[in-house]
Amino acid sequence: NADVVPQAPEDALFGLMAAYRRDTDPKKVDLGIGAYRDNNAKPWVLPVVKKADELLRKDPDLNHEYLPIAGLAAFTSASQKLILGDESPAILEKRATSVQTISGTGALHLGALFLSKFYHTKEPRTVYFSDPTWPNHFQVFSNVHLPYKTYPYFKKETKALDFDGMISTLEGAEPGSIIVLHACAHNPTGVDPTQDQWKKIADVIREKKHFPFFDTAYQGFASGDLAKDGWAIRYFVEQGFELCIAQSYAKNFGLYGERAGCFHFVTASAADAESTVQRVASQLAILQRSEISNPPAYGARIAATVLNDKELFADWEADLKTMSGRIIDMRKALRSKLEELGTPGTWNHITDQIGMFSYTGLSEKQVLKLREDSHVYMTKNGRISMAGLNTNNVEYFAKAVDKAVRE
Ligand code: LMR
Repeated sequence: NADVVPQAPEDALFGLMAAYRRDTDPKKVDLGIGAYRDNNAKPWVLPVVKKADELLRKDPDLNHEYLPIAGLAAFTSASQKLILGDESPAILEKRATSVQTISGTGALHLGALFLSKFYHTKEPRTVYFSDPTWPNHFQVFSNVHLPYKTYPYFKKETKALDFDGMISTLEGAEPGSIIVLHACAHNPTGVDPTQDQWKKIADVIREKKHFPFFDTAYQGFASGDLAKDGWAIRYFVEQGFELCIAQSYAKNFGLYGERAGCFHFVTASAADAESTVQRVASQLAILQRSEISNPPAYGARIAATVLNDKELFADWEADLKTMSGRIIDMRKALRSKLEELGTPGTWNHITDQIGMFSYTGLSEKQVLKLREDSHVYMTKNGRISMAGLNTNNVEYFAKAVDKAVRE
């Protein structure tokens, strides 16, 4: 009897989006969901995506048949190269297998489900998330009954990485724990480890025989350079780890609603690596078939068209620079406006942090005040999506923050 079903809370982020839409004030500012906006606060269809779309529509053989269970091969193989690098030993030695998924969330789910079935270490197989992390991580992994804990990540006092806290928690974690890592442009903080810090993280993960699981939703968004943003993953692969990767094309292709993503499993170099990967692939195919049968085609076709064509790829890199460049400009503008206003506190973290988000340090009370008084919408943890700022509203936002901070 459905009487027993309790009311669930509304999703915080999508609830915020709905509240913003209901607000009729013309001054309203949306800094909630992580979706790129142009300087007029409008969604931006990447010019390269428009081009690929036109090419696809011209193809007389295009149809709506099912894709294979593992997805479009031209997409999954290009996705491997994009994240692991063209010359990755894992690709050359056939140590990687990939499945097209319902964007990054679907990739996380498929990976979590796979680990819940096959990751046989001593119970409990705890998953570690950064504190804070993208809230959906908790739901995705607990849905498949993997217990979770967190490792310190953000230090309030410095508004930067709590590296020592992170390392000591990973050192103290039960050996064989699953460690979820944001490959770049950490969500929600915008704070990433340096390359030297990544090396130390890899050392601890190796010593403790932990299992790394990378979430990459912002490749090309952090630095504007795809290889640089893929560095941490490539380093771990080079170091011989067995690992999982959940890859999203929502942000870097602006394909939010098309749900294009990929799950990758990479095994370590060994004589039987190829057969290991084939067995893993066979299990992933069964999981995929039972859950979504086969993935949606459109977004993957767009991405594959671009990723497999030199000229379009270069166009895409230019589009990424447009997006990341505008965000960097907004970081500079926001920081300098706050400093000009003499807003209490320090604001260097706004330009130190990278990617789509900034963790402002504003309290929940200040966030709610900003919504009430100034119609500014941001998540309660003080995260802002930098892409919601533009030359028309950055001053308005800075003044609103100034007011909220002084109260
Ligand atoms: C975000 O954190 O805003 C995005 O990743 C969107 C989402 O699905 O939560």
